[in-house]
Amino acid sequence: MLKDQINNLKNEAIGQILEVKDIRELKEIRAKFLGRSGKINDLTREIPKLPEGERKEIGRLLNEAKKTIEEIIEETEKKLVKTQKTGEFFDLTLPGIKPPEGHLHLITQTITEITNIFSRLGFRMARYPEVEWDYYAFGGLNFPENHPARDEWETFFIADLYHSKYGKGILTPHTSSGQLREMEKYKPPIRMLNIAKCYRRQSDISHSPMFYQFEGLVVDENINITHLKGTLDFFFKNFFGEEREARIRPYHFQFTEPSFEVDVSCSECKGSGVLESGEICRVCKKGWLEIGGAGMVHPTVLKNGGIDPEKYTGFAFGWGIERVLMMKYGLGDIRLLFEGDLRFLNQF
Ligand code: FA5
Repeated sequence: MLKDQINNLKNEAIGQILEVKDIRELKEIRAKFLGRSGKINDLTREIPKLPEGERKEIGRLLNEAKKTIEEIIEETEKKLVKTQKTGEFFDLTLPGIKPPEGHLHLITQTITEITNIFSRLGFRMARYPEVEWDYYAFGGLNFPENHPARDEWETFFIADLYHSKYGKGILTPHTSSGQLREMEKYKPPIRMLNIAKCYRRQSDISHSPMFYQFEGLVVDENINITHLKGTLDFFFKNFFGEEREARIRPYHFQFTEPSFEVDVSCSECKGSGVLESGEICRVCKKGWLEIGGAGMVHPTVLKNGGIDPEKYTGFAFGWGIERVLMMKYGLGDIRLLFEGDLRFLNQF
């Protein structure tokens, strides 16, 4: 009889221990079964009443039951302490949670893509200062003293930064500031690709106060407009698609002569301005999309860079990174690129 009682007691204790939720409950169970007036001691007090021959065996069973209950209480206590420290029980058998995976920003992806295309033509990646002197951005590039780009409304001037030879300190407004620095550093043949942050006091759906430009500069003997046109075609075919073509139109820049505005053929109407249905193309209206400036390097700029304009000629082009990627992906607002909204960024 007593044997069965001991067994039941042990099972009852184990069952209750497995149900406990905290240390306080566990303490109560310890007192209930192992305490001075607990259930094990209640049974121990029955031993003297037993026949002589049974006492030893019952004493051994009670000791075993006590030891088992003690061990399980100890184990449970360790688990509960750990749980309370970490806030939750760490179950090694549960499947893991994959941390969210990021990727490069669309602008960075585009910079890499453009760099790869031009490096196949032998262009060297250059990097020039973001805080620049007036001379490299304007004066040395043929801009007259009163040119509107120098006006406060276009360019950010740095307070109290002035160089006696190079003029005012500014945030570089275009990557053309790298042209003279490249010519001062290297002699022809030059094939430079300068990708940098530029700053202007502009803000609307296609202009941002900070944006990226990429500038190409090639200087060597016998460089002419056909080299420029071939380079533009190569870029457009590789960046936008095999069927795209470049077109150059006369324009004016201070630092190139002749100067051009560069267009790329429209993907919707294939450069015709008219859709297959006969409707006027809504994307471009005239078959071409304007992309940015280019031209043959002005002889004065070559001279300022320490290069003999009688011996060498060159071409340059400079476009917005955001502009070309907005055209490629059909984005309508430049601000999407700077807001950091993951709903937008995760699409690329
Ligand atoms: C220039 O900056 C000349 N330096 C380009 C050049 C280089 C001409 C070499 C000849 C030879 P422009 O101001 O047009 O040109 O700017 C060129 C491109 O930069 C624009 O077509 C546009 O894509 C981009 N851009 C200019 N301002 C902003 C702006 N605020 N936000 C975003 N993109 C801009």
